[in-house]
Amino acid sequence: DGIRRRDFLDIAAIGAAGVGGVFIVYPLVSQMAPSKDVLAASSTEVDVSSIEPGQAIKAVFRKQPLFVKRLTDAEIAAANAIPTGSLRDQESLEDRTKEGHRDILVTMGVCTHLGCVPLGAAEGEVKGEYGGYFCPCHGSHYDTAGRIMKGPAPTNLEVPEYEFISDTVIQVG
Ligand code: FES
Repeated sequence: DGIRRRDFLDIAAIGAAGVGGVFIVYPLVSQMAPSKDVLAASSTEVDVSSIEPGQAIKAVFRKQPLFVKRLTDAEIAAANAIPTGSLRDQESLEDRTKEGHRDILVTMGVCTHLGCVPLGAAEGEVKGEYGGYFCPCHGSHYDTAGRIMKGPAPTNLEVPEYEFISDTVIQVG
């Protein structure tokens, strides 16, 4: 966090100093470790503490919808009851969540068929036949772990790179 703030201040200082800033900024930015800066700038932090079991929140990660859901015990049990080997895209709930936080499911809110935003994250939206997410565009049904169960989507809802940076805050990206 400290590093990022300092980088921001450096960039702000460069911007403030720059008459003809375009010429000045580009060479300097290219000398700063660019991939790390780009990654830091495009990560998203989400506080999961206020998400009740069975609820999800919609966030934005790299300009795309991100679903962060707290699973109920029943939703966890439902996911674990499905043999992984029977799945189109064979991932367990354990593969898709973090140790100590098996109830927090973080997925992109982007159907892996043609990219529509599935329903099921907001209160009252249909969750499909498997109680997770449902894509209304062409009828893809995802289970409580966001895994494709039925319909044209080829793969599970993508779990982006993320980590818990505290007990209640995740950093995505
Ligand atoms: Fe979701 Fe086609 S885009 S089913």
